[in-house]
Amino acid sequence: MPGTLPAFLHDYEEPLVVSTSQIMDGNIPTIAGVYGGKRARDQIPKVDHKKIKKICCIGAGYVGGPTCSVIANKNPDVAVTIVDLSVRRIEAWQSDDLPIHEPNLLEVVQSARDDREGRPANLFFSTDIDKAIREADCIFVSVNTPTKSLGRGKGRASELSYFESAIRRIADVATNDKIIVEKSTVPVRTAENMREILMANCNPGVKFEILSNPEFLAEGTAIKNLLQPDRILIGSLSTQAGIRAAASLVDIYAAWVPREKIITTSLWSSELAKLAANCLLAQRISSINALSAICESTGANVAEVSKACGLDSRIGPKMLSASVGFGGSCLKKDILSLSYIAESLHLPEVAAYWRSINDINEYQKDRFARRIVACLHHSLEKKKIAIFGFAFKKDTGDVRESAAISIVHDLITEGADIGIYDPQAPEESIWFELEAACDNPDLVRSRVKIHNTPYEACDGAHAIVIVTEWDEFGNKTPVASKKATVTPPATPRTESATSLPSKLLEAKETVAKATGTRVEWERVAGVMKKPMYVFDGRNMIEPQNLEDLGFKVEGIGMAGRGRKIVVDLDS
Ligand SMILES: NC(=O)c1ccc[n+]([C@@H]2O[C@H](COP(=O)([O-])OP(=O)(O)OC[C@H]3O[C@@H](n4cnc5c(N)ncnc54)[C@H](O)[C@@H]3O)[C@@H](O)[C@H]2O)c1
Repeated sequence: MPGTLPAFLHDYEEPLVVSTSQIMDGNIPTIAGVYGGKRARDQIPKVDHKKIKKICCIGAGYVGGPTCSVIANKNPDVAVTIVDLSVRRIEAWQSDDLPIHEPNLLEVVQSARDDREGRPANLFFSTDIDKAIREADCIFVSVNTPTKSLGRGKGRASELSYFESAIRRIADVATNDKIIVEKSTVPVRTAENMREILMANCNPGVKFEILSNPEFLAEGTAIKNLLQPDRILIGSLSTQAGIRAAASLVDIYAAWVPREKIITTSLWSSELAKLAANCLLAQRISSINALSAICESTGANVAEVSKACGLDSRIGPKMLSASVGFGGSCLKKDILSLSYIAESLHLPEVAAYWRSINDINEYQKDRFARRIVACLHHSLEKKKIAIFGFAFKKDTGDVRESAAISIVHDLITEGADIGIYDPQAPEESIWFELEAACDNPDLVRSRVKIHNTPYEACDGAHAIVIVTEWDEFGNKTPVASKKATVTPPATPRTESATSLPSKLLEAKETVAKATGTRVEWERVAGVMKKPMYVFDGRNMIEPQNLEDLGFKVEGIGMAGRGRKIVVDLDS
């Protein structure tokens, strides 16, 4: 049922520099502007603000962990404590077997955490949430905000219970003023609701300032994105306290991010901009995927279409690769959230527009599974299919909302046996996702096997389905380097002690933990049943090479070799 969003939060102090009318007009200067513009950005800021000395980050997940590790790495004089409810997760962060796979993350963590090479440790991981809250002057809230699974808005709205519980804990525990940073992706106007909770529950005399500082990193390239962000977005109220808090947070990022890339806006623009960015990215993927369906029926090649369109400077080449569909914990849920917000604002056409992006994504996954079944003569009984990659994208072990989940589910339903190989996705996460997606977990356990090498997964298989674009599956170019070598900082308090070696940013390709090399396709051909199919859900295979080995290759957005193209405009 549609609801309404709460009334505009009235500023509770006099604006210092930025007037409310400027915010309403969208004419909001950046902090650099407030300090006197770009040319003066190296001058000492005129806004009197506190220096943040201790940061607490609530939530040690894919965002909280890497983000606050980089903050600690770049601000050696700031103590950063990352806390979580999960003892297991925190123990993993304290070890060298980190709970998430992300290129170069370990080096970043070690350099700030391990008190080595004369640099005192300033990065800590803990389950003592209350202590970390009490001691911090700035608290990042970086907990999960999944889609609601219960009650009003079920399956569409954001579940804010984890976020709210973190906020309530801050209110209960804090005995001095805090800056609270919304790092999680939240619906627009969440800060207003959280402020109400804080005001109603705080200890006497304690003041809170809420900032929105959404995270734009992409899994698989998190460290690169954090070290060289396109922008840092900080939203605040336009009050004195709001501007001061924003200035304090600007200082933290200014330790390594050029000032002109740190932009400040109103709280509401910042909250909405994060949702908007994810929805726009997903919209490009669904647009090219929708075009891929037309390509497959007409003989056009989606790679050529994408290149031709991407060379138009108004369009640009990024996020225009056709694929089996997007996955991950963010895009689908953020589209659902934005669409639900539009519905709540009585904007049904807007809601339907954004929802259609998810609809195309589901259609793309379903279409791909149907194509596999059709090519394998409409029956998968007594056939084995190897799944190459289960993570939602390369260079991460994250399998949340991976396209592999629905594809495996569809293939099992058709009677197939499945062999899965992924170099990083943890086995227990694969089982968790597959069993959650299927009414019959016993069927999943009886049909699916998870293997340590691609060759075991392919043994006796009729087809391979490439779901994740891990470099090791490709056959286009040779692997450039095995792994980035990282030189530990040589001396304390120098550039090299606090900044990461540029080599961290140079590693372009990753290779398997299990094999350390590219897949040997000749060897694969030797263990498979004939005819052998490769369904390339990422268009990463150069088909001719594999066809020379006897494979039939089916890509996305290109008609399969030897398949008849029928265009019947009247039907
Ligand atoms: N994953 C991404 O690529 C990405 C990118 C940008 C933004 N985001 C957003 O960032 C937020 C976090 O995402 P994530 O992928 O890091 O989630 P995650 O599930 O990996 O991590 C969240 C962590 O928060 C902990 N947690 C939950 N409630 C807690 C509480 N009350 N106290 C202490 N710990 C608590 C959980 O135990 C978990 O470890 C989400 O809002 C997400 O939409 C994610």
